[in-house]
Amino acid sequence: MKEKIMTDHIRASYQPVGLFEDTSFEKIHNVIYDSSIEGSILVANEIAQLIKDKQKENLNCILGLATGSSPVKVYEELIRLHKEEELSFRNVITFNLDEYYPMEKNNIQSYDYFMHEHLFNHVNIVLENINIPDGTGDLDNLYQSCIDYEMKIKSYGGLDFQLLGIGRTGHIGFNEPGSHINSGTRVITLEHITRVDAATSFIGIENVPRKAITMGIGTIKNAKRIVLMAWGANKSKIIQETIEGEISSIVPATYLQQHNNTSFILDEEASSELTRVKTQKLIIQIT
Ligand code: GLP
Repeated sequence: MKEKIMTDHIRASYQPVGLFEDTSFEKIHNVIYDSSIEGSILVANEIAQLIKDKQKENLNCILGLATGSSPVKVYEELIRLHKEEELSFRNVITFNLDEYYPMEKNNIQSYDYFMHEHLFNHVNIVLENINIPDGTGDLDNLYQSCIDYEMKIKSYGGLDFQLLGIGRTGHIGFNEPGSHINSGTRVITLEHITRVDAATSFIGIENVPRKAITMGIGTIKNAKRIVLMAWGANKSKIIQETIEGEISSIVPATYLQQHNNTSFILDEEASSELTRVKTQKLIIQIT
């Protein structure tokens, strides 16, 4: 079992694994909650604590942020902490994982729109501190703008914290199967399943872009702390493969097994295919 460098305050805030639960198949630290609300509040608290710790040291807090349904409740709780408990975002600099390409910023399907709607419009973040891959650029300049995005993250000393969801293909950000472990920010072609999953919000698969700009696996893996959230039964299979399977480019999220400060935050449905959970059910049935 490789060493985890989780700090004490992080370890204390997440539930410990039960004494008789068999985690021997698991290659990534994970915590299972009764509900996504409970898990999301814990994650929001970890982020808030990091922001405050950095403020005490007069430092910026560099956050890697995600879109999709998984992080929505985390953002709701961060907004509540801002409005009711004076959490300030003045020292926060954000880098979003990805954006569809091509995509106008003011399109309601854009991740730019999503982030403003679900977080940025409701907190006191400095607008210049928000970074989201630009889906409007012409193809000729894309290569350079991806390099610039990567360099900008590096110029701040890298990401202090990266929030992630997971796609059913095992993608993190939009790093689809085949992504290289050292990949950087780049343009990627979306898998059919990913486009199917996005079809409802685009009112038909024919409207879902075929390409996206995404931070790479290498970019994500350089974050000092990574938290991936997964809710619901439709994530259970990919969560089991990611936590218990071998590292492979076929399931890019498995690369996180090599990161020594990653936690997966799951609800019961998303954890239901883990060996630990299945054997636990078996024991309950037998006894
Ligand atoms: C998209 C995003 C991912 C996100 C995934 C899962 O593909 N690019 O960053 O993790 O969707 O979305 P959801 O959280 O809605 O399940």
